[in-house]
Amino acid sequence: MINIPRGTQDILPEESPKWRYIESKLHQLMEVYNYQEIRTPIFESTDLFARGVGDSTDVVQKEMYTFKDKGDRSITLRPEGTAATVRSYIENKMQGLANQPVKLYYNGPMFRYERKQKGRYRQFNQFGIEAIGAENPSIDAEVLAMVMHIYQSFGLKHLKLVINSVGDAESRVEYQEALRAHFKPVIHTYCQDCQNRIETNPMRILDCKVDKDKPEMKTAPSITDYLNDYSKSYFDAVKAHLDRLGIPYVVDPNLVRGLDYYTHTAFELMIDNEDYKGAITTLCGGGRYNGLLELLGGPNQTGIGFALSIERLLMALEEEGIELPHTSHLDLFIATMGNDADDYAVKLLNDLRHENIRVDKDYLSRKLKGQMKQADRLNATYTIVLGDQELATNEVAIKHMATGESHTIKLNEIAQFINGGKA
Ligand code: HAM
Repeated sequence: MINIPRGTQDILPEESPKWRYIESKLHQLMEVYNYQEIRTPIFESTDLFARGVGDSTDVVQKEMYTFKDKGDRSITLRPEGTAATVRSYIENKMQGLANQPVKLYYNGPMFRYERKQKGRYRQFNQFGIEAIGAENPSIDAEVLAMVMHIYQSFGLKHLKLVINSVGDAESRVEYQEALRAHFKPVIHTYCQDCQNRIETNPMRILDCKVDKDKPEMKTAPSITDYLNDYSKSYFDAVKAHLDRLGIPYVVDPNLVRGLDYYTHTAFELMIDNEDYKGAITTLCGGGRYNGLLELLGGPNQTGIGFALSIERLLMALEEEGIELPHTSHLDLFIATMGNDADDYAVKLLNDLRHENIRVDKDYLSRKLKGQMKQADRLNATYTIVLGDQELATNEVAIKHMATGESHTIKLNEIAQFINGGKA
């Protein structure tokens, strides 16, 4: 037997209605916020992520599914959506569109070679948004408000919004020096990646999964102390918006995100429940990225966005015991007695389906009792039993399964009867 690859999952028929419900709700919310969908390829040039996400990040160094295609190009299965969305923005010259800022969203599989655990997969489905072309604290606040709105619209309550400012490029220069000075005396006790990162990108040390419990991690200087005036006032304005919107948040000066492109606002939404046993508590993450567009050869525009995985959203729903509405049912189950009735049922099914009736029949020559059980299993609203008599009289008793109520109607009135009941 060949098994499913590690870290991936089948979404089986009993689970997929939950996915469809979540996805359709997300699409609806995007209309409310005036974001439009973009679909980019599942694979891109490796360079896009190496440059965009950052050479010294774990995602690029350890987690990418990279391969050479038959034309000897280095290709990578997308580990995230921001770099690809920005690539498309640049390639399609979206800075020239009349509607600015450009507000985009995406929903699809992403791939990271990570250690599998609950809430962490090697193929996972990210829903994300990117608002490109405005540097204004009010759009940062809009994105944060949207994050809360999304989770609350599914009924989730135990949520903690954690925010930070990682400053602009200028604030970062001094901060990087301070980090180098802090870690230098002990860097030989850190992993090889951190030893490399101290020169190339010392902020990444703070995000190291191997050395995360080392004492110097806790005493490391905080970016908050190195923010320049512009970064400080930008962050203050974002917080003031959140206060006005009544959105609770916690400022965590140690929040650093795992991807290199962030500037100013950075955030994560966490499960906030002391009894929660799972290791993974981050539901979604994002932030502002000034400079990413230029880094990828684009115009001097800035953006902000976030992404969540549907897997972790489902995990949070399960944790809070929230059931999503289930819509899987049949309008009608046709039970048959005898070959003539069964032949007739094939045509009736076909006609009713063209009238938009959700209908099915037995295909396993079950006895009548077995067919009625099947109708129950399929959650059918109505059933009919077709036999020689019904074919002779052209009439059938249609039974409402929940109430037991029965009506005799003409065989060609079934669709009308059911649709009337729906109205
Ligand atoms: P990220 O923090 O790497 O950010 O991922 C965002 C979200 O994707 C996580 O909070 C989590 O819900 C989900 N996720 C990440 N890895 C996994 C995994 N292995 N299994 C299940 N879920 C996972 C980004 O990807 C940025 N592109 C977000 C962003 C958009 N920033 C600005 N715009």
